Amino acid sequence: MTANRTVLITGGCGGIGREVTRQLQADGRAVRVVDIVAGEAPGVDYVVADINDYEAMDRATKEVAHVIHLAAIPWETGDARGLFRANMQGTFNVMNAAAENGVRGFVFASTVATYGLLHPSQPYHPEYFPVDERSPLIPDGNYANMKILAEQFQISYARKYGMDSIALRLATVMTPGTDQWRQVHDNIGDPEHVFVDGMTMREFMWQYVHVYDVVQAFGLAIRYLEEHRGFGFEAFNIGAEDVASSIPTLELLRRYFPELPVLRHPVRFVEHSHATLYGIDKAVTELGYRPRYTWRDQVPRTEEVAR
Ligand SMILES: NC(=O)c1ccc[n+]([C@@H]2O[C@H](COP(=O)([O-])OP(=O)(O)OC[C@H]3O[C@@H](n4cnc5c(N)ncnc54)[C@H](O)[C@@H]3O)[C@@H](O)[C@H]2O)c1
Repeated sequence: MTANRTVLITGGCGGIGREVTRQLQADGRAVRVVDIVAGEAPGVDYVVADINDYEAMDRATKEVAHVIHLAAIPWETGDARGLFRANMQGTFNVMNAAAENGVRGFVFASTVATYGLLHPSQPYHPEYFPVDERSPLIPDGNYANMKILAEQFQISYARKYGMDSIALRLATVMTPGTDQWRQVHDNIGDPEHVFVDGMTMREFMWQYVHVYDVVQAFGLAIRYLEEHRGFGFEAFNIGAEDVASSIPTLELLRRYFPELPVLRHPVRFVEHSHATLYGIDKAVTELGYRPRYTWRDQVPRTEEVAR
């Protein structure tokens, strides 16, 4: 395994991790995966371990150039202590071991939930649309809290160890062929369709992202780390370029946010009638991110995974 090109992916056997692993390999990178379940993609160095096992994380992060940290419980559960162990203690273990072992760059799977969306205790009213990386982070729920805290860790580890760090604040990830995808697709004309955990598409602010665009974003983040040194920490929103609704965005705003918060770039919503409310301009400008897939694509196109 070539030390300076090796990328360690935690949670590399999960829904996002499998696709990211496949793409990084296709890009010619050596990939090591840490997961509690075993994987079987040829050529991948699989380490079956729990991220709560510090010694195992110490071994796994040796001779690694970059880490993509995905392993987590990926939603708000009723089990707050379990969530803390996996998402906070486990994240600390991976990050601390990586920093101590001289890893150059760290990419973290953060979330749109950091802005106070998804499982909010109070209705979500942003100060402005589209929600972008300068929007306030609102700790509301343990899942979101721990993602925000993990980003704080990223900032401090970048300062203390010089381990440059990127947080990709992923929109709700959709994979064609899954029930979730079908559900959104089949109810695309109903902006109040109940989606998951009793929450409606409206409460999700109709944001989403195709898993292949997520793959693209992780690839670009690794390239960014290779090409830039000493920048510290950057966060990027990663989403689709449209809303998951067949109703035009301005109409959704008129119906559901009658006391309209400030709308930035209003012309965009005239030029692109279904433009997203989850702002991805920073990723487009700085990472070169170009979302290629929308809910209109029904058929998975595995041979075309974005680069
Ligand atoms: N799926 C989404 O919509 C979404 C949106 C935003 C952010 N994210 C984040 O992206 C990441 C990946 O999400 P996903 O949808 O692929 O989830 P997933 O559940 O499909 O994959 C998570 C993987 O992590 C592994 N894992 C869990 N706990 C572990 C532990 N203690 N030690 C080692 N491995 C462990 C699991 O075995 C699994 O393979 C998570 O950090 C999640 O919070 C996901």
